[in-house]
Amino acid sequence: MNILRFTDLCAQDQVRGQRVLIRADLNVPQDEAGHITEDTRIRASVPCIELALKSGAAVMVTSHLGRPTEGEFKPEDSLAPVAVRLGELLGRPVPLVAKWVDGVAVNPGEVVMLENCRLNKGEKKNDPALSQKMAALCDVFVHDAFGTAHRAEASTYGVAQYAKVACAGPLLAAEIDAITRALDNPKRPLVAIVAGSKVSTKLSILKSLAANVDQLIVGGGIANTFMLAMGLPIGKSLAEPGLVDEAKAIIEMMQARGAAVPIPTDVVVANEFAAMARANKVPVEAVQDDDLILDIGPRTAAELASIIARAGTVVWNGPMGVFEYDQFAGGTRTLAAAIAHSPAFSIAGGGDTLAAIAKYGIEKDIGYISTGGGAFLEVLEGKTLPAFEILQKRAVA
Ligand code: 3PG
Repeated sequence: MNILRFTDLCAQDQVRGQRVLIRADLNVPQDEAGHITEDTRIRASVPCIELALKSGAAVMVTSHLGRPTEGEFKPEDSLAPVAVRLGELLGRPVPLVAKWVDGVAVNPGEVVMLENCRLNKGEKKNDPALSQKMAALCDVFVHDAFGTAHRAEASTYGVAQYAKVACAGPLLAAEIDAITRALDNPKRPLVAIVAGSKVSTKLSILKSLAANVDQLIVGGGIANTFMLAMGLPIGKSLAEPGLVDEAKAIIEMMQARGAAVPIPTDVVVANEFAAMARANKVPVEAVQDDDLILDIGPRTAAELASIIARAGTVVWNGPMGVFEYDQFAGGTRTLAAAIAHSPAFSIAGGGDTLAAIAKYGIEKDIGYISTGGGAFLEVLEGKTLPAFEILQKRAVA
């Protein structure tokens, strides 16, 4: 993808003494008292900020936090706790600037945080006047917020249109590189794992991937709907009978290309969804009317693991079963181990997937772990994200 990269500008000493505005995604979860409960996104944003400082820029960082009402400041919407955490990680204080749209005082070698950008009127609607004011704050705009790359807002899109220079920060560039490697120029076979409770929420992803991947592994409630499409019994398991025709069409589309949707041959069932539920491993044909399918069975997991072992590229979104309960975690654990041991380049994303990766401690064995939630899903849907589109335009402008 032809984009301007901040790392290149820094390597060419082009940002020394320049005003640099970094749009990060610091939208981290907080508890009721406002304490940050998970700071991955802040840590992931540090390299860009450190690079800007090291390169002699006057650095402004902004982000959204939650979905506040524009123009109505409430203390819980403030980036104050994020500024404190960022300061700890950078080893220097990060002053927080409120009301920053009309001007920010910051010197080369300093960093300030600009209060929650979604408090500015016009942010969500990508208002041109607001975007132009933001662009006027800086010499270089750096988009480093992959988590918001699917949003066209003033601080993510409009500012990139109007800034003198607009480029991708190292985090966004790494996401772009991993996505390109996995989906545009994949080493084959390309295997995608799409799991989750409902086909309906991931239908466009399944359709888009079905046109590209060599094996489309389905799991969770999605697999149940595909089993239903194959005429297999699923008892009272979660499924969407109304989408059986869509599932059949995906299977046929894959088969027509010589690709496949592997359907489970055995499953783990229980007659209640509960932490203490008794699990039974049964062949798919033996699922009873009152059974709930809560995981794939060991034979299926072993078959899928061997597909993954032979893959050139693996794209992973969603756990195979209810991995939060150990008796239904076998499928997800086996696939996680297979991905970790496979020589394939792997890319993983999505909240549940990240939780599974953390549970099995395989972070270092995944080729790339995406920081995007909705943005990652839109990539899998085959959409061109607004951030990618505008940065490409600006690279040639
Ligand atoms: C996310 O949490 O996925 C990103 O920060 C985007 O947040 P949004 O869905 O509120 O735009």
